[in-house]
Amino acid sequence: MPTLTCFLCGKSQPADRLQTVCPDDGRPLRVDLDLKPGDFNKEDLKGRVPSMWRYQEVLPQVEPVSLGEGLTPLHKAERLHPNWLVKDEAVNPTASFKARGMSTAVSIAKHLGAQKLAVPSAGNAGGALAAYAAKAGLEAFVFMPQDTPRACIVEAQMHGAQVFLIDGLINDCAAEIGRRKEQEGWFDMSTLKEPYRVEGKKTMGYELAEQLDWQLPDVIVYPTGGGTGLVGMAKAFDEMEALGWIGSKRPRFVSVQAEGCAPIATAFLNGERFAELFPNAHTSASGLRVPKAIGDFIMLDMLRAQHGTAVTVTDEEMVAGAKEIARKTGIFAAPEGGATLAAAQHLLKTGWIKEEDQVVLFNTGSGVKYLEALTA
Ligand SMILES: Cc1ncc(COP(=O)(O)O)c(C=O)c1O
Ligand SMILES: [Zn+2]
Repeated sequence: MPTLTCFLCGKSQPADRLQTVCPDDGRPLRVDLDLKPGDFNKEDLKGRVPSMWRYQEVLPQVEPVSLGEGLTPLHKAERLHPNWLVKDEAVNPTASFKARGMSTAVSIAKHLGAQKLAVPSAGNAGGALAAYAAKAGLEAFVFMPQDTPRACIVEAQMHGAQVFLIDGLINDCAAEIGRRKEQEGWFDMSTLKEPYRVEGKKTMGYELAEQLDWQLPDVIVYPTGGGTGLVGMAKAFDEMEALGWIGSKRPRFVSVQAEGCAPIATAFLNGERFAELFPNAHTSASGLRVPKAIGDFIMLDMLRAQHGTAVTVTDEEMVAGAKEIARKTGIFAAPEGGATLAAAQHLLKTGWIKEEDQVVLFNTGSGVKYLEALTA
């Protein structure tokens, strides 16, 4: 059984029951596995399932609720730049990286007896929860802003979720769940309020290492909303070091946000550890429309400790980036994926990224879900 430890105050909570956040400060709980060399060997991966559950020793020890998520391709993108690669998360079930976190979180929630799962979502997480709840035979309650991409709304409805469209942003959706969850008997699956979504997301870090023959890239460019992608990959690298799979060298992370919603980038530039609510948040990359993240300090501490940075791009740059990825790699990228290309090109110009750096761009979702934004 792992220990659940608050990322902020370090206090532990029992892992044998459903948990959300630290009761003392409301901050996220980390699943601590206490790994040492020999607990899990790279050689054990030979012949394992072609999904993220190949890393089963470091995932929840319960019956997986799986739709075949993970082990997504890492494409050379030589027409973008000779040393750049794209990790294509669009080919996951439900067409985004959100499948990974929902697979682990729904697996553990089912194991611990939850029956009604609720989530606030910018789009992709709602579709993913609905699909994994359908597979598990659990009920899903999805709260999305009214102007969420239509594909995500229809997807969640098709999987049988009850979908509530809210006149507001994802934090307003979260507040609505907070007000009603006790009375309705909902378990809150919000990003980082639920400890096990990060466990699924971290498999992106394990896969990168495995696909690059255990040599991590120089730079990872990731579109940041709630932050589980960044937090998860950083956790994966720490775990792999504890297992003796990699050394202490880490990639430099770039957190990419939209100019119209940049709480983490703003706090990073201002030297702050906690981010303010970003006022009047707007961007057509709905996954990046997260004006307040409870894991802010985890990302900001990590970016500073590991010589990373945070940048913003405009909506026009994101869409142009998605077009360029589509035309030069064959990947139909989401605007969030396009944002990583725009950010990397900018950082190459400023010299923060060197020509010789090996750079991995994360296309976190599929353009198919964003027809409104991509054709506007
Ligand atoms: C396509 C896409 N990319 C990136 C993100 C942001 O991810 P995270 O919450 O891990 O920061 C989201 C979140 O909704 C998303 O849907
Ligand atoms: Zn705490």
